[in-house]
Parts: sequence; C-alpha cells; structure tokens
Amino acid sequence: MNEIENIVKEMFKKYGKSRTALIPVLQSIIRKKRFLSDEDIVEVAKLFDLSSAEVYGVASFYSFLDIKPRGKYVIRICKTISCEMKGSKEIIESIKKMLKINLNETTKDNKFSLLTTNCLGWCHKGPAMLINEDVYYDLTPEKVAEIIEFYKNK
Ligand code: FES
Repeated sequence: MNEIENIVKEMFKKYGKSRTALIPVLQSIIRKKRFLSDEDIVEVAKLFDLSSAEVYGVASFYSFLDIKPRGKYVIRICKTISCEMKGSKEIIESIKKMLKINLNETTKDNKFSLLTTNCLGWCHKGPAMLINEDVYYDLTPEKVAEIIEFYKNK
C-alpha cells in the first residue's frame, strides 16, 4: 500500500468513506509532501470514487490546500480589510525585501514561500499572518524581522 492509500485508509477509519474525509486527507498529504501533485489528486479521486475534477475543485477552492510546490515555511499574510487598515501592506513589503521574493514566490533555498490569505480570525490584533500552522499577530516590520530570523535559523 502506498503513502496516499495509507492516509486515505486512516481517514476512512476516522470519518467513514465520505466526502467529510476529503479535506482531512488533502491536508494530511500536504503536511507530508508540502503540496498536492496532479498524481495525488487522481489517486485520491479514485479512492473516494470521485472525479479528479471534483477533488481538484476542492483543492483549488481552499487556499490552504496547495496545488503548487512551496517552501518549508509558508508565510500567509492576511489581506482582508481590518488587517489592511492596520498595515498588512507594509508587512508584506518588509517581508518581500527581507526574503528577496515577491508574493506567490519561494526563496531559492526553498525555505520560505510568501502568500496572502483571507481573514484568519485575528482581526482585533491585526496585522496577522500564519507561518505554516502558527499564528502571529500585532505585527510590525521589526517584529516580523525577528520572526523571520527565528525561522531562518530553525
Ligand atoms: Fe486579518 Fe481578520 S482581517 S485576521
């Protein structure tokens, strides 16, 4: 049994063979492989008895389900209005300079990818961002520099 089959089997045990298991399966594949390849999508579709188009549709709808290879640390800056009013654009600019990449790009060493995302639910403490699954808020360019430095040395 290959890796994808194992993941699907585990999730079917937990959620039953239903669409409820689909997002946990896709998340679990991303945790292991960092993104969903076309082959993964085809295989998951087969195991769920769905069409590849349906699985691809789910994966591409949720920005958290990456269908492109990303860096080890995926930085997602909230681009929604409350964070924008509190300076998220300045945060994005400072990270772009620090990592020498643009939005939706990955550093040459494959360590960081820089993306935006919709509201993370920390609007009262914006600007907010995620690095993989960790939330950071009340961001300033100085605070972000320290956080990025921490991940660089991790
Ligand atoms: Fe940024 Fe809600 S608007 S966390």
